[in-house]
Amino acid sequence: MRGVTVASPGAPYEVTDDLPKPSPNDGQVLVRSLFSGINPVETFMQSSGMLVTSWPVVLGCDASGEVVEVGKGVSKFKIGDHAYGCTRLGVPGYGTFQEYHLMDEKLAFKKPGNISVEQAATLGVGLLTASLGLIAGLGIEFPAAGETLKRDEWLIVLGGSGSVGQYAIQIASFSGYQVLTSCSPSKAPLCIAAGASATFDYKLPLDEQISTINSITGGDFSKVLDAGAVSYVPAMEILVKCSNSKKDGAKHFASTDDWSPMSAPDKSGINIYRIRLGQLGRYGEGSQQDETCRVLEEAIVPLERFLAEGQIKPMEWEIVGHGFEGLAGAVKLFDSGTFGGKKALVKLA
Ligand SMILES: NC(=O)c1ccc[n+]([C@@H]2O[C@H](COP(=O)([O-])OP(=O)(O)OC[C@H]3O[C@@H](n4cnc5c(N)ncnc54)[C@H](OP(=O)(O)O)[C@@H]3O)[C@@H](O)[C@H]2O)c1
Repeated sequence: MRGVTVASPGAPYEVTDDLPKPSPNDGQVLVRSLFSGINPVETFMQSSGMLVTSWPVVLGCDASGEVVEVGKGVSKFKIGDHAYGCTRLGVPGYGTFQEYHLMDEKLAFKKPGNISVEQAATLGVGLLTASLGLIAGLGIEFPAAGETLKRDEWLIVLGGSGSVGQYAIQIASFSGYQVLTSCSPSKAPLCIAAGASATFDYKLPLDEQISTINSITGGDFSKVLDAGAVSYVPAMEILVKCSNSKKDGAKHFASTDDWSPMSAPDKSGINIYRIRLGQLGRYGEGSQQDETCRVLEEAIVPLERFLAEGQIKPMEWEIVGHGFEGLAGAVKLFDSGTFGGKKALVKLA
């Protein structure tokens, strides 16, 4: 089958037509790739080789496609259904930048009628990363069916205008929190539309940011999510200087940055959680991996309901490349960072 490979760390993308077509194991489906979202992790893996389990590798993980084969024991999907979500990273057979790829039934979403095939490709990585950080990292709970939650508490999302950030704002706000988020001023309307109650500019001096946070929240928060993977230092300052954490006495920080050294200041009572979406699907590889799979499996059930009921809305998107020939250019365009809060997609079939 056709697809795009990378031969070794730092090598360019190459179109090929001799990839083996994968076969689904028990509990898996084979999906025809229609659209793929593009994420920062593609260039991270292509340039560093990290998270790649064997070479050459087919990258791509934000899937949206049609189920063409089902493995034994699969009950959620049948042939012709539309599956989307995040695939296993760096493992042969799972990359979305090829004609057909595998997905684990329990970690894949089924597309409802109110979401287009393109919109589905914006959801997997952003939504699951945000969910891991909010649930496993910050301890939030989703509302039950028909329940409206209102908590007397703020939750801070640092970097709310990106893909992870926009979904984090939506989830935290319908889970009852008032959300305060940092972003570039031009992206404030987008963050408010996603459900944030207020925004501040992360480019201002930190003292000014802290004084704004104090005046907006009165210190009534104990949970901070770094969605942009760049906010460890300001987050520690914000939690130490502003949070009164009167709810449970503890302060919680979750970050998409899972590579930089981090430790909480002494006696600050801050719990740090590193989000590792790359552990998705790595069943049996260790207790952390199993726990990540468990959290995601459990989250997908209510997330599908929130999507079908319109409580979570897919972010805006733009097609930046067509076909396997257009993929390298699409990733380059994405890396130039010109999409202003929209998800970059490549149309593969
Ligand atoms: N650990 C994991 O498992 C995992 C999973 C998914 C993603 N990630 C990482 O998480 C990061 C975000 O991913 P994404 O897909 O959401 O990227 P994205 O859509 O490109 O968004 C990145 C956002 O970061 C914001 N930003 C830049 N500098 C900032 C700063 N100094 N303070 C606060 N915000 C800042 C930008 O905000 P403005 O545009 O408003 O300036 C932008 O919206 C990436 O580094 C990605 O590699 C990690």
